[in-house]
Amino acid sequence: MNLFEVYPLFDINPVKAKGSFLWDDKGQQYLDFYGGHAVISIGHNHPYYQAKLKDQLEKISFYSNSVQNDLQVELANKLGSLSGYEDYNLFLCNSGAEANENALKLASFHNGKKKVVYFSDSFHGRTSAAVAVTDNPKIVAPVNASDNFIKCDWNDVETLETIFKTDEISAVIVEGIQGVGGINLPDEHFIQSIRSLCDSNDAVMILDEVQSGYGRAGYFFAHQEFDVKPDLITTAKGMGNGFPIAGVLISPKFKASSGLLGTTFGGNHLACAAGIAVLDVIKNENLIENAEKIGAYIEDKIKKFKHIKSIRRRGLMMGIELDQPCAEVRSSLLKKHFVFTGNANDKNVLRILPALNITEKEADIFIAALEDILQNLN
Ligand SMILES: Cc1ncc(COP(=O)(O)O)c(C=O)c1O
Repeated sequence: MNLFEVYPLFDINPVKAKGSFLWDDKGQQYLDFYGGHAVISIGHNHPYYQAKLKDQLEKISFYSNSVQNDLQVELANKLGSLSGYEDYNLFLCNSGAEANENALKLASFHNGKKKVVYFSDSFHGRTSAAVAVTDNPKIVAPVNASDNFIKCDWNDVETLETIFKTDEISAVIVEGIQGVGGINLPDEHFIQSIRSLCDSNDAVMILDEVQSGYGRAGYFFAHQEFDVKPDLITTAKGMGNGFPIAGVLISPKFKASSGLLGTTFGGNHLACAAGIAVLDVIKNENLIENAEKIGAYIEDKIKKFKHIKSIRRRGLMMGIELDQPCAEVRSSLLKKHFVFTGNANDKNVLRILPALNITEKEADIFIAALEDILQNLN
């Protein structure tokens, strides 16, 4: 059987990883400044994470959500306390798309309405409702499309107000910081307006923190830069440091009932062990503070480099906007300097998402590589 070829692949086969580095099958070392799409939060194969997973493997790996699972309770308590959302409830699932799908369903169950507002350049995943609120017609199949989904421009409060005047809105879904779109930061007024429009129209505010959450942006959740509390918060990527786990943080105003949401794999024992390990390491090693410290360090060192038009950054979520498409720079970083970085829908933006525990010394490798490439670019 062949693989269904939906991914453009680099000709690199990593066989080992540790901290911020990967090694391929030929022994070549790579610096990971992308974390496999923002997934690696506490560094590859962190010893505490490895020990927790190994220990859990020795005990029990999986049983379904029809039995008690103390690990889910421990994870929920630790997540509540580290994020500041102690009074919210947690629904565990497996991927970012699934978290958003469940959030959109929950909103609609809650207020009985069906129209959802989303924003230009958004990415919320590839399942049915999640892809319908993603601003990329190429990945929306006819079966996903419907007039329940209304697009508004990013940071455009005026249009948002008009939409609320003309339609019965169930939910507004917004990324804490847009990732795939090109590291687009929301204005405070925009986020506050979503909150107040949702409040006055019985609509649900959904914050997608799948990429921008878990300490990445220098706050536990990126939206915590502002004084706002969403009704639902979705999380995935950094939550398991590579082990598939995702969640919806649910405000106490939503009432749970048996069978309302569900999943076979969500919140299984191994996934919870990974999730608990990540939270312990983020807390014990002060990784949220480190994200802001190293992010600021990198920004300061590179801001005067040739060809950089702007830097959009919170913590270690950074978009480096060049004065030209970044494909050549990204390819040279990988092939000449062996550094992984990411791209975005905005072709000029280099997306930087390293592990939250990178050091200045590791950052210096990236900084020197970027300087070398930009200096020699026309
Ligand atoms: C903001 C955001 N939401 C949702 C998703 C979808 O997550 P997953 O690929 O785990 O379904 C992504 C993935 O890139 C994302 O960046």
